[in-house]
Amino acid sequence: MTIPGAWPLLGHAGSLLRDPLGFLESVYALGDVVLLRLGPKPAYLVNGSEPLRRILVADAPYYDKGFQINALRALIGDGIGTSVGPKHRRQRRLMRPAFDHAHVRGYVDIMAQCATAGADTWRDGRTIDAGREMRRLAMTAIILAVLGVAQDGALPSDAAVQAEVLTSLSVVLAGVGRRAILPLGRLEHTPTPGNLRFNRAHVALHSAVDRMVADHRAQRNGDGGSAGNGGLLDTLLAAVDEDGTGMSDQQVHDEVMTVLLAGSETSAGTLAWLLHILSGDLDLQRAVQQEADTVLAGRTPQVDDLGSLPLARRVVSEVLRLYPASWLLGRRSLQEVEIAGVPVPTRAQVLLNFYGVHRDPQAYPDPNRFDPDRWLAPDPEVLRAYYFPFGMGPHVCVGEGFAWSLIMTTLAVIASQYTVKPVPGSVVRPVARTTLHPGVVPLTFEPR
Ligand code: HEM
Repeated sequence: MTIPGAWPLLGHAGSLLRDPLGFLESVYALGDVVLLRLGPKPAYLVNGSEPLRRILVADAPYYDKGFQINALRALIGDGIGTSVGPKHRRQRRLMRPAFDHAHVRGYVDIMAQCATAGADTWRDGRTIDAGREMRRLAMTAIILAVLGVAQDGALPSDAAVQAEVLTSLSVVLAGVGRRAILPLGRLEHTPTPGNLRFNRAHVALHSAVDRMVADHRAQRNGDGGSAGNGGLLDTLLAAVDEDGTGMSDQQVHDEVMTVLLAGSETSAGTLAWLLHILSGDLDLQRAVQQEADTVLAGRTPQVDDLGSLPLARRVVSEVLRLYPASWLLGRRSLQEVEIAGVPVPTRAQVLLNFYGVHRDPQAYPDPNRFDPDRWLAPDPEVLRAYYFPFGMGPHVCVGEGFAWSLIMTTLAVIASQYTVKPVPGSVVRPVARTTLHPGVVPLTFEPR
């Protein structure tokens, strides 16, 4: 069916831009797939969990990632997030070792160091914007995991590169979101202060990543092709396919850019939501603190601790349900397809309503209530059938294990050191752009 309320010319684009989450919730019950108009073109909004799964998994070859991908490719290069077909399959194979269990174990030490260093700066009682702080923390942890600097063998140039990437990445993240959603065409080249700032940061980020790749490649060659320090970058440089070939420096560059962009805002937003929820429910926060105290007994968390924090894990699962960073994903049909019995032509825009599915009342009674204990259900598989925080199929988030480790480690460090409290009168509003994040989250961190 076609969703009523389309405006001439604009169609439903106005509603989707004005109140995207309210819009997605309001049209969820209208059917497994509904037609909406974005400007002159129809788009297919998919609500049903079965059709969603089919698009992501069995029918994945019939779709690419949609209209924004070309804009994104021009900005960040052609890593696994934007590539398709055989190139995507090869890149996934080459990337996998950098995200396997053994490597993520190594990254947890880096994550714990970052969280502890961040936490040390919150002792003075001032109000902290947890949105911004979690962004800084997540970006730092990902940059250091890429460089692998928690272990011996860091290059002297790494510290300078780290600072450069940290500064430019936040500017680029904000600008990429805007440019990927609304391709600005010639407006992008207008020398406004915002565009100039974006362009400078964009050039600085690419050249810092080039430097990282060149330095680590040179060190690897100097060491006779060693596997390096276990960091993500060295692992990518060492990766070879079945035919014995590895990645060019340009490809490694594009993959590092992809990881920096795909991992930072998603993880940071989830962490910021998490702190916002805990600050509003002190009983729940106390229970999370007690669990961390029992398991850690004052130690810094290590990888084996993360599996012993079941309450924290349920809390994070519930945050990812109610506030999925990937709240609406785009696809484009590469041929004629059928979605839940509806014929869809070639080159049609398809939108996957994860935000709606995650609030399906059949799977999640009282769906808007934050209830971590729903994950204690005897058969959580029923819940998981309506749960797509990391996507599914060939493009499923390659950093899922990394993200879980980063979020759990950071939560464990914060819970064992602080009670987070909201600033009276402050209102936290969801911001639904490239990711769904909570914008500004003013909190105080009271040392325990
Ligand atoms: C809470 C945090 C995160 C969430 C909710 C999340 C979610 C997702 C989702 C839904 C996708 C699938 C996109 C699609 O099918 O179009 C995805 C892909 C991806 N994610 Fe994540 N992500 C998170 C953290 C991370 C981290 C920490 C990294 C890396 C360090 C990462 C790297 C990637 C990459 C490279 C892809 C592209 C995979 C491909 O297309 O083959 N993500 N992520």
